[in-house]
Amino acid sequence: MNDVNIRLLKDIDTDYKLLEKWYQEEEIYSSFEQRKLNYQEIKEKYYPRTLKSAKVPVYMIEYKKRPVGIIQYKLVDTENKELYNLKGNYIYEIDIFIGELGEHNKGIGSTAINILSKYLYKEKKAKLLVMCPLKNNQKAINCYKKCGFYIKNYFKTKDTIGMIQTYALMIKEKLM
Ligand SMILES: CC(C)(COP(=O)(O)OP(=O)(O)OC[C@H]1O[C@@H](n2cnc3c(N)ncnc32)[C@H](O)[C@@H]1OP(=O)(O)O)[C@@H](O)C(=O)NCCC(=O)NCCS
Repeated sequence: MNDVNIRLLKDIDTDYKLLEKWYQEEEIYSSFEQRKLNYQEIKEKYYPRTLKSAKVPVYMIEYKKRPVGIIQYKLVDTENKELYNLKGNYIYEIDIFIGELGEHNKGIGSTAINILSKYLYKEKKAKLLVMCPLKNNQKAINCYKKCGFYIKNYFKTKDTIGMIQTYALMIKEKLM
């Protein structure tokens, strides 16, 4: 879809305010912090991710030039490789949400994932890509399947508020 592009999140009020707005939606925060975040919490969480040295670079997803959500990536660390039972280097994990709920199911999420996957394979030497939706998040699972990910396994771990949750370990081995 040509109407979708991604650009780095900026350390500016308008970007943080959009994130604050999106983090008031249960459908969004239930997959991330499990609670609403206020402006200050958003800034503390996302400011480090706007830096050149960011370990978790974040991109704004734009649809028809309007921001609608975010997508981010990070290298999977040793602890999570054990949790996921994966071996090797250059394994990246992707997270995404479309904060504008009215824009779901238009192919924006899958297009953004395809753009970032291509970048990770071509520019960041990715060998394997990982996405971990909650087991019952069928919309996310269907979206990721469209992008070439498949469910390798399920695992349980604590979420950010300490509740044990079951996640699907979805991986993608090569460019489609
Ligand atoms: C998951 C998410 C990123 C997908 O983005 P999107 O732009 O809606 O995705 P797409 O339109 O590319 O694909 C969605 C697919 O799910 C399907 N779908 C939608 N609702 C569904 C449901 N309730 N059950 C099953 N499938 C569903 C759509 O039909 C579509 O598949 P299709 O193109 O084969 O018809 C987005 O919905 C979102 O942000 N959700 C809330 C936060 C979230 O769950 N983030 C992921 C955390 S791991």
